[in-house]
Amino acid sequence: MLGVFDSGRGGLGALCELRFLLPTADIAYLSDTKNLPYGEKSPETLIPLIERALNKLCSLGCTRILIACVTASSLHSRLSPTLRHVSFPIVTPAAQEAARVSKSGRIGIVATARTVKEGVLYRRLIDDGSIHVEASVGTGLVELVEAGHTDENDAEALCAVYRALVPHLKSRVDTVLLGCTHYPSLSPLFRRLLPADTVLVPSGEVGARAFVHTLSDEDCIGQGITLFF
Ligand code: DGL
Repeated sequence: MLGVFDSGRGGLGALCELRFLLPTADIAYLSDTKNLPYGEKSPETLIPLIERALNKLCSLGCTRILIACVTASSLHSRLSPTLRHVSFPIVTPAAQEAARVSKSGRIGIVATARTVKEGVLYRRLIDDGSIHVEASVGTGLVELVEAGHTDENDAEALCAVYRALVPHLKSRVDTVLLGCTHYPSLSPLFRRLLPADTVLVPSGEVGARAFVHTLSDEDCIGQGITLFF
């Protein structure tokens, strides 16, 4: 069985992508909503929470786990060796996809405070060559998504997305990396505020596609069952 983990509902985009690509695999989805938002917490608090969630998925029989949370993925190198081995972080595929689709090489990252502080996503992008990259925090966006404030006319959500986009609008980026798996639920609002030809990169869906390439046939055996925890 495969596992998918996020702090909340953000990882559902990755789960849908995985289900589409692997219709017969059994998949367990675990969200740690009790401890959300992860993006506001310290590594010392988050690492035990992430390890507990991954251990729970292992105890349910998951042989490979997609960490469909950029914040948790940013801390992947600090997890125990066994859990590092069984799990797949989505930072690198997300950064690679942003670098691939950007024509001007000017990329904006919007992510949680923890992801921006860790800087892993940012470093993966600048390692990619002559790319101009700037990161901003999507303050309050996770809470808005969890509360269902995703309508493109929601004034509170539009203001919060606008605040996150100000530096990227000024820098005239051609690509915005949605560096938190909750943010694609707000894509219509991002689109309303950005120039029409700006590309949005959803980290969860991109991560799910990269994860599939790392799986063996045995990992994907099942009856297409999806379990939620
Ligand atoms: N969905 C998570 C991410 O991709 C974070 C949400 C949270 O702050 O809990 O970063």
